[in-house]
Amino acid sequence: MKTYEIAAIPGDGIGKEILPEAVRLLEETARLDGDFRLEFTSFPWGSDYYLAHGCMMPAEGLERLREFDAILFGAVGWPQVPDSVSLWGLRLAICQGFDQYVNLRPARLLPGIRSPLRDKTPADIDFVVVRENTEGEYTGSGGRGHRGLPGEVAIESALFTRAGVERIIRYAFELARRRPAHRLACVTKSNAQKYGFALWDEVCSQVAEEFPEVTVERVLVDAMAARMVLHPETLDVVVASNLHGDILTDLAAAICGSLGVAPSGNIRPDRALPSMFEPIHGSAPDIAGRGIANPIGMFLSAALMLEFLGETRGADRIRSAVERTTAAGQVLTPDLGGNARTVDVTNAVIAALSD
Ligand code: NAI
Ligand code: MG
Repeated sequence: MKTYEIAAIPGDGIGKEILPEAVRLLEETARLDGDFRLEFTSFPWGSDYYLAHGCMMPAEGLERLREFDAILFGAVGWPQVPDSVSLWGLRLAICQGFDQYVNLRPARLLPGIRSPLRDKTPADIDFVVVRENTEGEYTGSGGRGHRGLPGEVAIESALFTRAGVERIIRYAFELARRRPAHRLACVTKSNAQKYGFALWDEVCSQVAEEFPEVTVERVLVDAMAARMVLHPETLDVVVASNLHGDILTDLAAAICGSLGVAPSGNIRPDRALPSMFEPIHGSAPDIAGRGIANPIGMFLSAALMLEFLGETRGADRIRSAVERTTAAGQVLTPDLGGNARTVDVTNAVIAALSD
């Protein structure tokens, strides 16, 4: 039987509550499927580890992760550790270290969940954001001078390479070609930022020639923010830079009813190194420890992981079970207006796996 080695990194806050639930769900899914097995190895890296050892993960952390088939990640960030330390020391270290250049973020309104957008139904909200995940605004290039003085200066540079822009745009076109609507929106701010995003526009036009079946449009990021709220039904695949994709996907999750339902994959398409799957939300210190975090974003990330591993039947089984649970509307966490606890949702989804 096929066995996949999965590295599990719960991280901080609600990451520690939802990741074990995803492991429970995945083990049950594999058992029901009967064609594959999953072996989990858990790594206690994150802010507690930092407070004890002075680093978010050991120096050989990436070395240890290389051999796994995939990584399942909870969330990082805790008030005692500066966010830039926790994010760069773990999540970004893995995404950039393993060149997981695609951050795939599907946005779907699940049945039974009410969107804050009046009158929008699951038929209206079903698109995917392809966020560039290794360069752009999040390369850490910049610096500060004259610290603390009135003339202090801070520079944060956005870095775009032709190779980096081309590979993400091509990935987005390929995805648009596989989806029924064949539409792609390329998001930039090329009216105001005339170097990096001019490169995006040029590369987009060039790559578009290879995909005549895809209808492509350029959309400025501010207009896209409005469009996502007013006309989400016009969106299919959206490709955006690291920062723009980050912001737009919190908005996308919000129109799907909660930050707690949105999944993501940090993907290295050539599979030379492992990809990493995680909900898009953070560690939510405001609700951590109370057992009420919504695990659905984590579950749908687990489904993305199975799909990436080639276990489409298992992935579909999880998605259907989640949809049956939300459609029934009985077992929802407080962020979705219910009063269920995290474990109740897992139990309901597990029960729905074999329906
Ligand atoms: P957040 O996503 O943790 O929380 C924002 C709001 O959404 C909070 O009110 C929270 O309770 C709610 N929320 C998030 N996930 C939820 C879930 N599964 N169920 C129910 N409610 C949920 O973002 P915030 O507050 O800006 O950041 C908290 C920490 O997380 C920071 O340290 C930040 O750096 C880190 N962070 C980490 C990310 C990652 O690991 N990928 C991504 C975003 C933030
Ligand atoms: Mg974010």
